[in-house]
Amino acid sequence: MAEARVAQERRGFGATGRRDAWWVEIAPVVIVLGLFGVYATLRALEGAHYEWGPYISPFYSPLIDPEHRWWPFSPALLILGGPLGFRVTCYYYRKAYYRAFFLDPPACSVGEARHGYRGETKLPFILQNLHRYFLYLAVVFLGFLAYDAVRSFSFDGRFGIGVGSLVLTANVVLLALYTLSCHSLRHLAGGALDCFSCTAFGRTRGKAWRGLTALNERHMPFAWMSLFSVGLADLYVRSVACGLIRDLRIL
Ligand code: FES
Repeated sequence: MAEARVAQERRGFGATGRRDAWWVEIAPVVIVLGLFGVYATLRALEGAHYEWGPYISPFYSPLIDPEHRWWPFSPALLILGGPLGFRVTCYYYRKAYYRAFFLDPPACSVGEARHGYRGETKLPFILQNLHRYFLYLAVVFLGFLAYDAVRSFSFDGRFGIGVGSLVLTANVVLLALYTLSCHSLRHLAGGALDCFSCTAFGRTRGKAWRGLTALNERHMPFAWMSLFSVGLADLYVRSVACGLIRDLRIL
């Protein structure tokens, strides 16, 4: 059975015995990731409308050299490498964009154009192995965004709640779920261990690993929800900052 499938895939690009519409799975990925990529690039280059009152766009946080003393370009360009690197090297997104954009392979049991497989052992794809280090960076960014979310409840030094406060808070919660459900983090807690009770802090690590495993099972939805939330949070701050809409004060 497995041999028959391999033979079919070797027949040529797109050859498959599948009768379902396998391409339906990759079409939304192309559209959503493509649109997000265009929007995020334009916003990162814009260098304006990233702050209003206690709100700051997640694309621009932490805000570095907004007065352009030594950096003449958009401040977002100084920091976007961290979150972008984390997403690009994410195990789930790798599967999604290898299929959707490189058609490599387009789907399970569908023939691909290339027959030599070197995995991620050569440049540039060997750089995907940096994911764990991007995870450490992502945790630092999460700290900044959590601070921004708390700050978004302070209007001229007084506690208040605006729609923006809720948007920025929901965004950091979803980003935290995405980060905590990361495969690398789960491996950090319990990977390469055969026996939790035979190692230092085994019980704690076992508990952490079980909790992270429960989150890890939902990594794909967290990946998409946090992608939407970060884009929407930026769009909200931009819309308020440029006067397109008014922030609604709830309290
Ligand atoms: Fe997706 Fe780490 S595997 S963020």
